Amino acid sequence: MAEVVVVENEAAAGRLVAESIRALIERTPDAVLGLATGSTPIPVYQALAASFAEKPLDVSRVRGFALDEYVGLPAGHAESYRAVITREVVEPLGLTPENVHVPNGDLETIETAGLEYEIAILEAGGVDVQILGIGRTGHLGFNEPGSSFGSLTRVKTLTEKTREDNARFFDSPDDVPMHCITQGLGTIARARHLVLLAFGEGKAEAIAAAVEGPMTASQPGSAIQLHPHVTVIVDAAAASKL
Ligand code: GLP
Repeated sequence: MAEVVVVENEAAAGRLVAESIRALIERTPDAVLGLATGSTPIPVYQALAASFAEKPLDVSRVRGFALDEYVGLPAGHAESYRAVITREVVEPLGLTPENVHVPNGDLETIETAGLEYEIAILEAGGVDVQILGIGRTGHLGFNEPGSSFGSLTRVKTLTEKTREDNARFFDSPDDVPMHCITQGLGTIARARHLVLLAFGEGKAEAIAAAVEGPMTASQPGSAIQLHPHVTVIVDAAAASKL
């Protein structure tokens, strides 16, 4: 069963994960980080940036792989996950931009983008630590309910609930793309350490289903139960249904 750590608040979670990532980079200067978007991992990135500002660390060789991307957004769109990862991770942490990969959501090359991403992760030697949030539907990355536990990086259709949840980042709900390209549950499962974060009551059901519900494709988060090294970091509200 996953190790569950209940923390006081998001900032405390951020510091905890940042410390362990810092220690990883100190041991392994070319560590491979699995990066997530959404609001949940932001305290981690903020705590890492603060840690690097206080005590600089050479991160020029650190590599990163984002979980997912929208399909078909115009290049340079401020809410593409490429733009978000650049703004929230690459720039504040001082990572080398060429070392940080995001699935390619361009329509012209979408048919081969999944396979190319899988190969890039394998060539990097796999992900050392994968930061994960969880959606209200139980999705990891954008693996919505029904995703196979063995799935690899591929195009998926977003559920209405996820499009509603993500509408806050766009001018209008209709602007939220219908499709995404996401690492599969099988891709995510190959990371050597999974760190799943969740805060607030809205995530309590998804966390309970992920940690102790039946393992089922209807609850993609439950895929973590097959993994040998998982840390779930939650506040009391997100832990309230465990
Ligand atoms: C997003 C992302 C996921 C994220 C989840 C939760 O749509 N694709 O990687 O974990 O939904 O988002 P948030 O952290 O903002 O609640």
